[in-house]
Amino acid sequence: TRTAQALRTLPKTELHLHIEGTLEPELALRLAERNGVTLPFDGLDDLRSRYHFADLQSFLDLYYQLMSVLRTREDFADLMFAYLTHAHEDGVRRAEIFFDPQVHMNNGLDYNLVLDGLQDGIARGRDAYGIDAALILSVVRDLPVESAQALLDAAAPRASELLAIGLDSAEVGYPPELFEQVYERAAGMGLHLVAHAGEEGPAEYIRQALDVLHVERIDHGVRIVDDPALVQRVAAEGIGLTVCPLSNLRLQVVDDVANVPIRQLLDAGVRVTVNSDDPAYFGGYIARNYTALAETGLPVTALATIAGNSIEACFAPEEGKAAMR
Ligand code: ADE
Ligand code: ZN
Repeated sequence: TRTAQALRTLPKTELHLHIEGTLEPELALRLAERNGVTLPFDGLDDLRSRYHFADLQSFLDLYYQLMSVLRTREDFADLMFAYLTHAHEDGVRRAEIFFDPQVHMNNGLDYNLVLDGLQDGIARGRDAYGIDAALILSVVRDLPVESAQALLDAAAPRASELLAIGLDSAEVGYPPELFEQVYERAAGMGLHLVAHAGEEGPAEYIRQALDVLHVERIDHGVRIVDDPALVQRVAAEGIGLTVCPLSNLRLQVVDDVANVPIRQLLDAGVRVTVNSDDPAYFGGYIARNYTALAETGLPVTALATIAGNSIEACFAPEEGKAAMR
């Protein structure tokens, strides 16, 4: 439709995207074969039948299982380039992309192999499309804090290749405050600071991410609507919220896309952005998230505001932002 086309061409950034969440089932099976990895699925139809999630954890179980097919530098390069191709088609000028090295390291891979492969894919995307991409080192919060510190040990020699640190995986029971020292150290390495908070967890976790971790953006953050004072504060401070509507729907955070509190947050003056999170699992890349909101009656003018917010909330230098506006 014309609206869908208009939403695709809006200049935008994507600020909440897990590269491992772009692993399409076809590619997962192809890499399993290429790398001799055995998966407990009987072909594509059987694998596809597993994409029904009751909550965040049931998604994470499949997401971590499929990550075992990623073995070589080329695998990571191919995965990144495939994502950047989708992103470019959806009007993305810049993407700030999470990766989960602890999982790959637990699968026996070297941190540098993972980083090299992702950087190869980013270079291919820049050459092919002029798209700008940067990496967010994401800490898996349901692994021990010592594992996060070991991750920073591995990441430190090439910290200048990283944009930011993030915090993801199972939220409830793993409050941000556990990672105070990890974030302090990451800040000392020159990284920007973001964290998932208020997806399944309470608004209190958003408050901790701000006050204890000193994050500059909140990933998801939809539960902030339970705390009106916090909504006012985040609006006043210009903190970006990276909301992911199709993710919230598929993980049963909401029962309908219309109930993702986008309009409420925009009306309160919050710097809301729209993103795809794990598009291979949740039914669409970023433009599909925009159109899903348009289908709920959110005006195209509001979606243009959101695309503008995504440029303001990104960590590109001011000249880079100006070039995207
Ligand atoms: N890892 C990948 N996607 C995630 C999400 N939506 N929440 C927490 N951890 C994740
Ligand atoms: Zn996420």
